[in-house]
Amino acid sequence: MSPYQLTRTLPEDATDAALRADVLHGLTRTPKSLPPKWFYDARGSELFEEITTLDEYYPTRAEREILLARAPEIAAATGARTLVELGSGSSEKTRHLLDELPVPHAYVPVDVSESALVGAAESLLVERPGLQVHALIADFTKELELPDTPGPRLVAFLGGTIGNLLPDERADFLASVRAMLVPGDALLLGTDLVKDESVLVRAYDDASGVTAAFNKNVLAVVDRELGADFDPADFDHVALWNSDQRWIEMRLRARRALTVKIRELDLVVAFEAGEEMRTEVSAKFTEDSVRTELAGAGMELAHWWTDEAERFALSLATAV
Ligand code: SAH
Ligand code: TRP
Repeated sequence: MSPYQLTRTLPEDATDAALRADVLHGLTRTPKSLPPKWFYDARGSELFEEITTLDEYYPTRAEREILLARAPEIAAATGARTLVELGSGSSEKTRHLLDELPVPHAYVPVDVSESALVGAAESLLVERPGLQVHALIADFTKELELPDTPGPRLVAFLGGTIGNLLPDERADFLASVRAMLVPGDALLLGTDLVKDESVLVRAYDDASGVTAAFNKNVLAVVDRELGADFDPADFDHVALWNSDQRWIEMRLRARRALTVKIRELDLVVAFEAGEEMRTEVSAKFTEDSVRTELAGAGMELAHWWTDEAERFALSLATAV
């Protein structure tokens, strides 16, 4: 028996059906696209952890700097007894926050990646044998059934992952977070900030090619899960800044004209030479845009903290 609880609210077959629907939808329209939550199989989670250590990828370091400086203030302002973390991944930075919360407290990491959740829970429990960990394998864009743990709750959504949702998805997501909060609860939101284009592009197109490998990993997921015959070598990684939308767009560009068979969908997809398929957006924010989006979902910005170089921000928000 494991010393922590691991609950799957994401049945294997529902995941499979969702992947099929997403791939079918994304690859039969123009321009083609694939939704980003499928990046994170065990290999994808590993590659993401490698991204967080790259020189060019500043968001992790900047957010860690803010957490280290502000964790005592966050703990004091919220008095949280339960930390719910959406898209928790390795829970690496979260430790700085757990260090400051009143004892005892519960930690509820939520992620689609079972391997990341298990790895995080096991290493946390080695360091903190008494911690109550209720890990949830779940999709944070769907309704969540949270375990019954003591309040107040702090819901953390770090890493700038909110920027990976499209604007209408973001509005729905924030509304569902708002619905989770009872009086006394709060949201801690990490957002990457609008900045110089060259700095942004480098963060998503590093010199050693780790981000390229991460982006192409989604093809390996589709190959394995749906019996497709994508060859990652047929595609180039593309990262570009869309100044109208204020987001970085990740794409995969076909190096030649080719067709891909997707056995489980009984589908053949043709790519023209140079055709690009969008795999991810990573939206960038300002204090005003965060305040406006929170307000639109019935929340109020209570604190805004940035790193020294003002590259990244943490917001603390409460329900109005
Ligand atoms: N919070 C960590 C990890 C960020 S990477 C950090 O700041 O470093 C994004 C994480 O969100 C990954 O662990 C991925 O598996 C998870 N994720 C992505 N889409 C998700 C979804 N729809 N539901 C739940 N988890 C998701
Ligand atoms: N949440 C991360 C971000 O937007 C995810 C990410 C980092 C990512 N690098 C990536 C997603 C490269 C796709 C491709 O910064």
